[in-house]
Amino acid sequence: MEGLKNKKIRVAIFASGAGSNAEKIMATFKNHAYIEVCLVICNKPQAGVLEIAQKNYVPVLLINKVDFFSDKSCLNELKQQEISWIILAGFLWKIPTALTQAFAGKMVNIHPALLPKYGGKGMYGHHVHEAVILNKEKESGITIHYVDEIYDHGSIILQKKCSVSDTDNADSLANKIHKLEHEWYAKTIEEIILKAKA
Ligand code: GRF
Repeated sequence: MEGLKNKKIRVAIFASGAGSNAEKIMATFKNHAYIEVCLVICNKPQAGVLEIAQKNYVPVLLINKVDFFSDKSCLNELKQQEISWIILAGFLWKIPTALTQAFAGKMVNIHPALLPKYGGKGMYGHHVHEAVILNKEKESGITIHYVDEIYDHGSIILQKKCSVSDTDNADSLANKIHKLEHEWYAKTIEEIILKAKA
């Protein structure tokens, strides 16, 4: 842990939506001894996460699709800002290969279901919960995993389950899942980052 004393590990959060997970992560690493959230990357000018970033004094980079997928400006920005971990928290675009390769083993996502079930293209937000309800699953949960070139595919770090009852709908299930996410995502990130550095 010697090197950690002088310089904090710099983390970027990628998010497209409300940003409740991003908020929890920022709170966890506020005044943290070894880790700091230095940047939020967002593709939606109206996303709730922008306000959360502002409240927490975290700079935001708004990206557009053409640049994100066709050049290396995002990667260059991350390098320039000495970001060493990327945390996806409800980011809805696929990550370009240049980024997954540059951050192999250092990019983490949270998926609102028990992968490998209910993952892949189109499986996000309510689509996931609706599919789980439709299939009368008895349980769902969260999966925290590393990110590779394939949607929702990288190796699994942690899964936590919740029950799905007959009376649940997509909204009530989404609430249960969010609770699990807020309980587990930030502390799991902290654990793996510190372990990787030790
Ligand atoms: C979460 O449910 C997460 O699992 C998924 O996107 C959602 C983001 O929610 N990847 P929020 O924006 O953090 O509130």
